[in-house]
Amino acid sequence: MTILQVMAEDDARVLLRTTDPEKINDELGPHGMWFERWQANAPLPDDAGEDEVLEAYREDVDRLCKQGDYRLVDVVRLHPDDEDPGWPEKARAARTKFLDEHTHDEDEVRFFVEGSGCFYLHLGDRVYAVVCEAGDLLAVPAGTTHWFDMGERPAFAAIRFFQEEDGWIGNFTGSGISARFPSLDELVAGGQ
Ligand SMILES: [Fe+2]
Repeated sequence: MTILQVMAEDDARVLLRTTDPEKINDELGPHGMWFERWQANAPLPDDAGEDEVLEAYREDVDRLCKQGDYRLVDVVRLHPDDEDPGWPEKARAARTKFLDEHTHDEDEVRFFVEGSGCFYLHLGDRVYAVVCEAGDLLAVPAGTTHWFDMGERPAFAAIRFFQEEDGWIGNFTGSGISARFPSLDELVAGGQ
């Protein structure tokens, strides 16, 4: 389920929690975020490849590329593999990479094809946690302080949009703020 939970920066008290896409858009839009719900133009098999995924959302992908001047598009996929003894370590490494607060010099734009993930947007004295699920597009403008949690068992496929080949690098703030907020798993379970 798509969730927006707005919390106070200082003590993470919940100021708003909603699952209404229209309300989520109303809250995020004034801060320059784009939140959209997309429909596939054909059913996608679980093992769909990159070309198949992009084709299923072709109109929206092309529109967004024009809108945001995104020149590169790819599909990233991460799923638990319990037969791989190295999976827990791989999952942990993937999760912790962007779990601390950071910014990017270009927009961070993700469309969730499968699964879920949570963006935490640190805007003024509030933190906006946006749990995205399949069908959700979120565009976070360059320079926005944020972090991302893919959960303890990362399971998602997402289309990523880039302006430059090497523009998407994390500039970490070192604030330590992310440790004070509920994880993706806690948010989905019902809040803090
Ligand atoms: Fe990021």
